[in-house]
Amino acid sequence: MSDGVQTQAAFTPRVFSGIQPSGGLTLGNYLGAIKRFVDMQGDAFETIYCMVDLHAITVWQDPAALRHNTRELCAGFIASGIDPEQSVLINQSQVPEHAQLGWIFNCVARMGWMKRMTQFKDKAGKNAENASLGLFGYPALMAADILIYHATHVPVGDDQKQHLELTRDIATKFNHDFGVDFFPITEPVIEGAATRVMSLRDGSKKMSKSDPSDASRINMTDDGDAIAKKIRKAKTDPDALPSEAKGLEDRPEARNLVNIYAALADMSVDDVLRDVGGKQFGEFKPMLSELAVEKLAPISGEMARLMNEPAEIDRILARGAERARAIAEPILQQTYEIVGMVRS
Ligand code: TRP
Repeated sequence: MSDGVQTQAAFTPRVFSGIQPSGGLTLGNYLGAIKRFVDMQGDAFETIYCMVDLHAITVWQDPAALRHNTRELCAGFIASGIDPEQSVLINQSQVPEHAQLGWIFNCVARMGWMKRMTQFKDKAGKNAENASLGLFGYPALMAADILIYHATHVPVGDDQKQHLELTRDIATKFNHDFGVDFFPITEPVIEGAATRVMSLRDGSKKMSKSDPSDASRINMTDDGDAIAKKIRKAKTDPDALPSEAKGLEDRPEARNLVNIYAALADMSVDDVLRDVGGKQFGEFKPMLSELAVEKLAPISGEMARLMNEPAEIDRILARGAERARAIAEPILQQTYEIVGMVRS
């Protein structure tokens, strides 16, 4: 975990993060998010991980696909090493306190703050008048996801930085308006550029589930053969690998493949290049392929097994919701007290 992670003394060190079950998990989701979530499990933190189905429906989701994608994301979490005993694993809609606190935060957040959110502008595009109200309010619900557990640390990608600043603003304003010290000021734990996985066909574009070319990405559901084939066909350049990271600066495809190797092997880029510097891709690609298949094929295999047992997944999520509500419910009740709601 990164240095500089600090904890407010009064709050239990608790990690919360979420991923939208909108389908198509890639190596980017694994290395950029899920693997980091796995690494944060342990004695230092309580860990709560969430499939944010209520966020997913801020844009249209086919109901059957949403159900499938929620279970598949859950299978992806577990297959990657999220232990549903050690971590609390939930889908958002089964813990109603998220939406309940979300409403309170709709009344704390200001229109001016929300209008500055770049993700809304990007997602709504030119036709903002036709975007859902939920898409506009999305970051207030995200703040509620985090603060309903008094979470202190939130691992996210770079693109979520602004939403975490908003979360801190909402907590600060709530505490100030009501004269309390109730919500923690959450620390973002931002993913570095090194873990950003790029397209296998174009090293300047992020690996994406929506790229029309399936060869551009490794899906978490790909089996060993598919993974090996995609790495064999990945775009490269004609030069040998450098022996220092600096030599990758203007070589986006080479850099991406070395980054992927380093992330999968839990090594630094410099350590990888110390081993493979001077090698041609004809030699490096089979090494990368072997490592990727070794690490990823068991995950897709386990995901497939779990997807054949949807009842097992649903049981895990039911148990997660129960444990989550034991934390969230008292915090919601205290929030209502603070705000002045009659509890009879
Ligand atoms: N907005 C996040 C994303 O798209 C997902 C998310 C929802 C989330 N609620 C969260 C992430 C709370 C961290 C904490 O990536």
